[in-house]
Amino acid sequence: MVKPLPSIENRQCEVNIRENRLRDMFGKELLGRYSDDDEMWLCAATMSSGVAPVITLNDGHLMPTLALGTGRGTAKEQDSIEEVRQAVFWALEAGYRHIDTASIYGDEEQVGQGIADAIAKGIVKREEVFVTTKLWNDKHACEDVVPALMESLGRLRLDYVDLYLIHFPIATNADGDPLNVDYLETWKGMEDAKKLGLARSIGVSNFNADQLSRLYQYSEIKPAVIEVEVNPTLTQHPLVDFSHRLGVAVMAFSPFGFVVSRDSGDAPPPRADDPVLVTLANKYGKTVTQVVLRYLVDRGLVPIPKSVNKARLAQNINIFDFQLAPEEVAEIDKFNKNVRVIDGKGWEDYPNFPFERN
Ligand SMILES: NC(=O)c1ccc[n+]([C@@H]2O[C@H](COP(=O)([O-])OP(=O)(O)OC[C@H]3O[C@@H](n4cnc5c(N)ncnc54)[C@H](OP(=O)(O)O)[C@@H]3O)[C@@H](O)[C@H]2O)c1
Repeated sequence: MVKPLPSIENRQCEVNIRENRLRDMFGKELLGRYSDDDEMWLCAATMSSGVAPVITLNDGHLMPTLALGTGRGTAKEQDSIEEVRQAVFWALEAGYRHIDTASIYGDEEQVGQGIADAIAKGIVKREEVFVTTKLWNDKHACEDVVPALMESLGRLRLDYVDLYLIHFPIATNADGDPLNVDYLETWKGMEDAKKLGLARSIGVSNFNADQLSRLYQYSEIKPAVIEVEVNPTLTQHPLVDFSHRLGVAVMAFSPFGFVVSRDSGDAPPPRADDPVLVTLANKYGKTVTQVVLRYLVDRGLVPIPKSVNKARLAQNINIFDFQLAPEEVAEIDKFNKNVRVIDGKGWEDYPNFPFERN
């Protein structure tokens, strides 16, 4: 149930009560551990050691503008989970400073091992790596959020993540059946996670503009990031522009769309041999996939290309030495057909389904 917005005085009182409760539950040292500006800025300064430039989030933290995706299988790959550890290590070696994972990917342990390997080899320090993970749909009850994050942290072998996202606005029970939990309630748990210093920034994924707007209006701590699908066949201009106007950074998942081989059947173009993309690739001496990633960066987005292949993941971050002209970005925009790689099929009847129903 959404409660009406309380008055400022009542709201402050509610916040104080909540903080006292958290302090009782988790101890004084944990709460507000990262509220110290000096520490935050030290971290911010060192995070820029990677190849991708960093942006400042609305909460003051810095985020590298390209992330390694570790979710597997959307392109029907048969990658073994062990490949993730190696991919994360190679990525950090190649200059990535942002890794995207989620509890539902089942690979947080391997992501943590890859990071630990790179730290042990002196390639990075923990504070130089921006780690994003996500809360799954069956942990949406407010009181389940912090324990779920603590489990993720245990698997990652970290004591905080840089960004924690609500993976979907949809809530389910452990069997995957729909539950009617309002994401505003879930968000209170996310705010607790931030106050405890377990997540430096918090945000959402797969929310539509109405859901983001409602969350923004009724939240005490505003979401810093929204992660949604964006690629040439799903350009998402209205949602991206709306998020940017709110000051919410946008991460772009499945950035290659149907340009890379997927079981795409009758999915609309472009593919890797598309003349528009090939012409741009030849002009800049880049590959078609690099042009697609640069298109997203030039729109102010943070793409999350996934690869477990050493050469391809190195190629995917080698996009910060060229730039597309605005008319070239507009040319790629014309591919938009609002067709999704991840369409949430099977969840259409669940409360808070975020996408258009076909
Ligand atoms: N928040 C969400 O709900 C959500 C949903 C989906 C995805 N994500 C995140 O976004 C990440 C990326 O999305 P995605 O995995 O769906 O799609 P993607 O990154 O657009 O595509 C991955 C596919 O492209 C191939 N590939 C990578 N680099 C390539 C290159 N340079 N040339 C040719 N092929 C290349 C990969 O194969 P190889 O590995 O063999 O190179 C893989 O088959 C995920 O891993 C996950 O972290 C989030």
